Amino acid sequence: MAHLVEEYLDAGLEEAVRRAVRKLKGVFALVVISSSAPELIVSARNGPPLVIGMGEGEYLVASDVPAVLGLTRKVLHLDDGQLAVISPQGARMTDFAGKRQPLRVKKITWDATMAEKDGFKHFMLKEIYEQPRAVTDTFRGRLSLEPGGVFLDELGLKPERLRRFKKVHLVACGTSWHAALVGKFLIEGLAGMPAEVDWASEYRYRDPITSRDVLTVAISQSGETADTLAAMREAKSKSSPVVSICNVVGSMMTRGSKGVVYTHAGPEIGVASTKAFTTQLTALILLALHLGQVRRHLTRKQVRELGAELMRIPGKMESILRRDADIAAIARRTARASNYLFLGRGINYPIALEGALKLKEISYIHAEGYSGGEMKHGPIALIDSKMPVLTLVVHDKVRQKMTSNMEEAQARGATLIAITDDGRHPSMHKAEEVFTVPRTSPWLYPLLLSLPLQLLAYHVADIRGCDIDQPRNLAKSVTVE
Ligand code: AGP
Repeated sequence: MAHLVEEYLDAGLEEAVRRAVRKLKGVFALVVISSSAPELIVSARNGPPLVIGMGEGEYLVASDVPAVLGLTRKVLHLDDGQLAVISPQGARMTDFAGKRQPLRVKKITWDATMAEKDGFKHFMLKEIYEQPRAVTDTFRGRLSLEPGGVFLDELGLKPERLRRFKKVHLVACGTSWHAALVGKFLIEGLAGMPAEVDWASEYRYRDPITSRDVLTVAISQSGETADTLAAMREAKSKSSPVVSICNVVGSMMTRGSKGVVYTHAGPEIGVASTKAFTTQLTALILLALHLGQVRRHLTRKQVRELGAELMRIPGKMESILRRDADIAAIARRTARASNYLFLGRGINYPIALEGALKLKEISYIHAEGYSGGEMKHGPIALIDSKMPVLTLVVHDKVRQKMTSNMEEAQARGATLIAITDDGRHPSMHKAEEVFTVPRTSPWLYPLLLSLPLQLLAYHVADIRGCDIDQPRNLAKSVTVE
């Protein structure tokens, strides 16, 4: 690329970069300087994120907002196909053809100190502990108990329009995809609408059947995941309105959506997503309640009751975090295992998947997440005395089924761990380790059960001496395919 720019340098640095980027294929985020124009910085974007920080008498170019937060809160986001030129006279922006573009400066409200570890050993641990606040910030201002309602004007879709949708498609990747799976249960159960979930990477290539009658909900922490952005384009090309659930203001995804429900998690630095996940779950609960209310599937009383219980979740999360030492003890007992199995059912089955993903991402232990119902269709063959089996057992209609899973795992000598809302239940005698979470509504257990699983992954990885905040081969946002 440097050589290509050099070929056009006679036209001046700015024009040379513009001509060069028009010839490039694929994705890129460039910052170009040249000794021939020492006062210019030219940057261009097609794909990966690029932000310009506007400081006091200085400009900064970075790939993400937290990098510039220590120096300024005023930032400018480049869109795909935009080129920015910084000179002592200021910043200006054009498209790749040279047409002037408006400068839309945004003020970031995150505090720079929020991006520091705050006394915790790792960002991941700090972020796990921030969840009660992050969840509160996500529902605050959107939920009212008197008379009982959820307000999501930011969806950009009026109640009449929301009533006309026949279906919801949720698209996402990784941890956000697990949130989408929980979202399916919520939307079907609370709004009475059929919901489908896709990995964005599959959706974009499978020629999905969609239309203006389908609401597409894209979920992403970063708002820059290449596959999710491509899935959004696919949905839009087939006339399906796209809204997003996202944590990053001004990210590519939010600019391509009809409406955005922001998760107010604050910056998440640890590569393994934690508070971004539980705030996505919170946003999905709000979305499902909102759809249920405008489509008259739920009564005001039902919205009020579930809303009131959602407001109690941060306090219940605090009580789990206070017992972190109990999870650390379970971690010490199982940290040397080579394989781990996580089982859940119903709305908590995606939490089993997420627990397994967290463990494999940061501890490098091979972990499988399964629906309890699938256990005997294959994974049971893996179970022996060396394998910890973690089960999620709460008061819901599949409790008895989960208890049977526990019996089967116990019979094969597994180290059985139960995360439950009733540690005194007789069935819990089967488990070698029991951790009890507070009782809540069946719709809200995913929010509580996530915490012990995150802490378990964290402590296991810490015992194994892994690089927790930056696990090998992983990046915070996957901006390429
Ligand atoms: C989460 O722990 C992972 N690092 C990863 O699966 C992530 O959730 C995925 O890449 C999607 O990212 P996004 O939410 O930023 O789109």
